[in-house]
Amino acid sequence: MSQTTRVIRPSSWWKEVVVYQVYPRSFNDSNGDGIGDLNGITAKLDYLKRLGIDVVWLSPHFDSPNADNGYDIRDYRQVMAEFGTMADFDRMLEAMKARGIELIIDLVVNHTSDEHAWFAASRRSRDNPHRDYYIWRDGKPDGTPPNNYPSFFGGSAWKLDPITGQFYLHYFDAKQPDLNWENSQVRSDVFDLMRFWLDKGVAGFRMDVIPLISKQPSLADLTPDQLAHPEFVYANGPHVHEYLQRMHREVLAPYHAMSVGEAFGVTLEQAPLFTDPRRGELNMIFHFDIVRLDRENWRKTDWTLPALKAAYTRIDEAAGLRGWTTSYLCNHDNPRAVSHFGDDSPAWRERSAKALATLMLTQRATPFLYQGDELGMTNYPFQSVQDYDDVEIRGQWRQLVETGLVPAAEYLGHVCQTSRDNARTPMQWSQEVNAGFTTGQPWLAVNPNYLEINAAAQLEDPDSVFHHYRRLIALRRQKPALVHGAYLDIDPKHEQIFAYTRSLADERYLVIVNFGARPLGYALPGSLRIERAVLDNTSGDTATAGATQLRSAPWQATIYKLD
Ligand code: NOJ
Ligand code: CA
Repeated sequence: MSQTTRVIRPSSWWKEVVVYQVYPRSFNDSNGDGIGDLNGITAKLDYLKRLGIDVVWLSPHFDSPNADNGYDIRDYRQVMAEFGTMADFDRMLEAMKARGIELIIDLVVNHTSDEHAWFAASRRSRDNPHRDYYIWRDGKPDGTPPNNYPSFFGGSAWKLDPITGQFYLHYFDAKQPDLNWENSQVRSDVFDLMRFWLDKGVAGFRMDVIPLISKQPSLADLTPDQLAHPEFVYANGPHVHEYLQRMHREVLAPYHAMSVGEAFGVTLEQAPLFTDPRRGELNMIFHFDIVRLDRENWRKTDWTLPALKAAYTRIDEAAGLRGWTTSYLCNHDNPRAVSHFGDDSPAWRERSAKALATLMLTQRATPFLYQGDELGMTNYPFQSVQDYDDVEIRGQWRQLVETGLVPAAEYLGHVCQTSRDNARTPMQWSQEVNAGFTTGQPWLAVNPNYLEINAAAQLEDPDSVFHHYRRLIALRRQKPALVHGAYLDIDPKHEQIFAYTRSLADERYLVIVNFGARPLGYALPGSLRIERAVLDNTSGDTATAGATQLRSAPWQATIYKLD
């Protein structure tokens, strides 16, 4: 380990940063093969620096056959050939460090690819030394799988492997067999590969579906209720905290590494078990309570502002005084923030994208911004199932539509709003062909709205969504109250106004976001009085000093300093 990695970072540096997620396949293609790559990222670091972010989270960059775009890893110590070489990785990391940007990488260790050498060995025979790296069971006497566990990508979570006549467990695709964390050899191999990347100078990890690593010892059938949300069973294995505490002690703590767990299947009540620093597990987790507020699996449901506000309050409470959490509205698994929670019609797209930025960057949490959201990129106009690439859509299509369980039109009507591919279309850099993402054929279609929505145009326009993000990030850096200050929703029931304060000692800010296209008057609750507007997303019609009432324009979002 380099000594600098040990000493440079203060112990809670990760609370004060703004993270930017790069989905490498869709970020920037440097060699015209239609697939984003590491040199493409390196070429855009000045853009990220301009935005002002501190940390990049890189979605998986490891060698992979890409059944699930890199979330199926064949070799944890190699770079995916389409993305470049290890030398490209080292150069990218060095170029980040030169700009004061840290890198966290994706740790995908609930499962590997079925093409990983461990699995190739494991499946070879029942007494192979690697057999126990995965979870093998006999089927039932009638030849059906060991239990009724469903895979998140459709069908059973078990696959019969003819070589040995046993089934292996895969919570995701059959090409993503689950590792057996009860095997201490698995744990030490994972810890070693983490050290391999930390020694290169990465600053930490985003941990893919990390609560799922400890399996239920009984592997009992799920009840009908549990079948609706298997993640709550899969996530509550008996050893998950023991494994994470070991990981923290043996790997993360010595490097002061940043850790953020994808808390799939974790309730808000359980959050402190992962993030209370006294327990020594993770720094923070991603909750699903906001991005899945209006979801029932692949179905889109309705959401209301009071419900959204309640989720924010519960997340803040779950972090508690000691713990910490994340703030995010999109990632590579969700629809675009502005299409999801804003209004992506031409009239309000920019304003509402900025309003969401204000919301996201003024939480008591580390913000995770997803590539393209800083431009207000929108969902893609999907028409038919052929427009999708995602393994999840293909699996569900086979399970639901091809079997006649769900009519095609109904399924497509929902997934065009909920599909992960909405966020995976290429980054829109310019008005050039393919939005400047590639000179070749992009692996996934570019959103046709790139002529209006692109980075080049927004960099030139001081009122753009990009510059609003840039100003918010800079403001957050200057005002500790916006990072650490107590969060209080001052009007939880209002159906259109989201109003909350952030207070640290005698410094107090009020954030007011109008979640709608209707202008309205708003009287501040209690005895709150405005001192001045600090940052606003309109042309500046904000309340003046001493005001206790204000007018809120459509999708207006203002940060006020309070008296
Ligand atoms: C969560 C990741 O974010 C998602 O993209 C992936 O498909 C699953 N975990 C499986 O690794
Ligand atoms: Ca490429």
